[in-house]
Amino acid sequence: MEMNIALLPGDGIGPEVIAQAVKVVNAVAKKFGHTIHFEEAPVGAAAIDLTGNPYPDETHEVCLRADAVLFGAIGDPKYDNDPKAKVRPEQGLLAMRKKLGLFANVRPTFTFPSLVHKSPLKLDRIEGVDLVFFRELTGGIYFGEPRGRNEQGTKAFDTNVYSKEEITRLARMGFEAAQKRRKLLTCVDKANVLATSRLWRETVQELAPEYPDVKVEYEFVDAVAMRLIQWPKAYDVLITENLFGDILTDEASVISGSMGLMPSASLGTDNKLFEPIHGSYPQAAGKDIANPLGTILSAAMMFEYAFDMRDEAKAISDVVNKSLAEGIVTEDIAEGGKAYKTSEVGDWLAANI
Ligand code: IPM
Ligand code: MN
Repeated sequence: MEMNIALLPGDGIGPEVIAQAVKVVNAVAKKFGHTIHFEEAPVGAAAIDLTGNPYPDETHEVCLRADAVLFGAIGDPKYDNDPKAKVRPEQGLLAMRKKLGLFANVRPTFTFPSLVHKSPLKLDRIEGVDLVFFRELTGGIYFGEPRGRNEQGTKAFDTNVYSKEEITRLARMGFEAAQKRRKLLTCVDKANVLATSRLWRETVQELAPEYPDVKVEYEFVDAVAMRLIQWPKAYDVLITENLFGDILTDEASVISGSMGLMPSASLGTDNKLFEPIHGSYPQAAGKDIANPLGTILSAAMMFEYAFDMRDEAKAISDVVNKSLAEGIVTEDIAEGGKAYKTSEVGDWLAANI
């Protein structure tokens, strides 16, 4: 098959980890007889430096033309401590999600047999954890209006807004995923306080009879924050709004032992984007030390979700497991063993596909 993939390396370690994913994707293409065309475009601080815009129109065109987008990371410390900056790299990511209609962010959390001992959590709690978040990605407090400051600049406000339609399309994806998994869906909200959460709960309750094989649980976000690290095996599929999902998926990444490992898919009706859940890790940029596995496993999700190619996806997850078992890993998970460079891990994976 012929595939067009947009490459958006972004900032910090983004270019380095994307370069490794490209090696692995090319190796998979060769093995399975696919032809892949890559088209690269700037986003984030890199795009601000070039054009003044963190998500330039030309980059959007490249994404629209592609069958899938592979994205690295966004963020630059020169903007983090400047709350007055008019343009911020993160605006590029939000604009990209919104303009591509990527309303569902699929973030799995699983453990790697050879790494479970790395997690700060007790082994019996995390061995075999396999859960997946469906985080709503284009609504909620990230986008709600009005937002900003009063005239004097002494008050600031953000607005959390959800429509029934936004909740429904995300929830349906969660129900469908649960049907293919262990048939448990947890709706995470704050319905004891927030009107938006009450609409979430009501909407999910209305949909539930259409999925009689799925057991639905409703749980407040503060309780989930606690139970997620206490009994992560209690969860299968979790659906939640944008901000809650942002926070809980960082928390969940601790279960796997390193944030550098977790992939994600951002899905819309017409477009699909794949990115690691980690950030731009500016302290490591250019040093060839960042863990590329989150991005490489995102490429595996790309084969599965964008092209329905399970064998290709499995070839990647298998070789990643092999590298972990054999200790071909970057310094964040090397623990006393030899630490390989980002580029060496990429070369090894590509050679072993
Ligand atoms: C993420 C990130 C982004 C978010 C930031 C960089 C805007 O933390 O993808 O989880 O909050 O969604
Ligand atoms: Mn986040």
